[in-house]
Amino acid sequence: MRVAVLGSVNLDLVARVAHLPRPGETVGEATLARHPGGKGANQALAARRLGAEVQLLAAVGADGAADEALALLRADGVALDWLQVAQATPTGIALIAVDAAGENQIVVAPGANATLALPEPAAFAGCDALIGVLEAPVPTVAAAVRAFPGFVALNLAPALPVSADVVARADLIIVNETELAAQGQALLDRAGLTALTLGAAGAELWQGGTRIADCTPPHVPVVDTVGAGDTFVAAITVALVAGLVPAAALRFACAASALAVTREGAQPSLPWRAEVDALVARTDW
Ligand code: RIB
Repeated sequence: MRVAVLGSVNLDLVARVAHLPRPGETVGEATLARHPGGKGANQALAARRLGAEVQLLAAVGADGAADEALALLRADGVALDWLQVAQATPTGIALIAVDAAGENQIVVAPGANATLALPEPAAFAGCDALIGVLEAPVPTVAAAVRAFPGFVALNLAPALPVSADVVARADLIIVNETELAAQGQALLDRAGLTALTLGAAGAELWQGGTRIADCTPPHVPVVDTVGAGDTFVAAITVALVAGLVPAAALRFACAASALAVTREGAQPSLPWRAEVDALVARTDW
């Protein structure tokens, strides 16, 4: 299976704090870490670790942050042949605070991500699936969705307006509760599949206004939820394109994202196929 991911690359600057700051509050005694991130890059690496060949279509700056942000993609063999390098715009940076319970707040300075142009058709050649995420410019994602002939998964994150024809074209849309509220409940009435993620409560799959599957994830120790949603997006796409029925694909994605929350960082936390298969096979959840 070959997957194209059109999305963002960020360097995540992650402060672990006792509690997340309220407006106007300064929280001290944080520890700081730097991790590769960005929703597109995270989804690309997750799909790769789950067994797909992956082409990442994204933009970075001509700077050291790009080298840090791309390190794990390179190490795990995500193809970067069509990476766009903006000469005058820095690589995207995400400022992330993670509290003791693993909850997070994220502020993104998109930098080069905002310059991403629609790649040539050759960039999508041979790909069975396209994953698009809205940290790339919405017009670029929309143009790719309209042009792509194969399976289209669209992650409407962050919550931004998207044309109705693009929503209708997607075979699979993935949203969390905030993103669903922004798009409207009618999203669940689409002819295509819509996956709704519910955090620790799991996820649901909807089609034509009917909830066709749901999944309660296994109980796991939560260390850091950053990247769990991206893991879910990649996993359910890989599973559906591989031919799993919707309920099985949802269980696979719930298992993958449950593993991701047990480890720190976005990309360092992304699970490998064997771990996910082992968790899916367990009968105690
Ligand atoms: O979904 C998690 C990602 O959101 C982080 O890696 C951060 O870069 C932001 O884009």
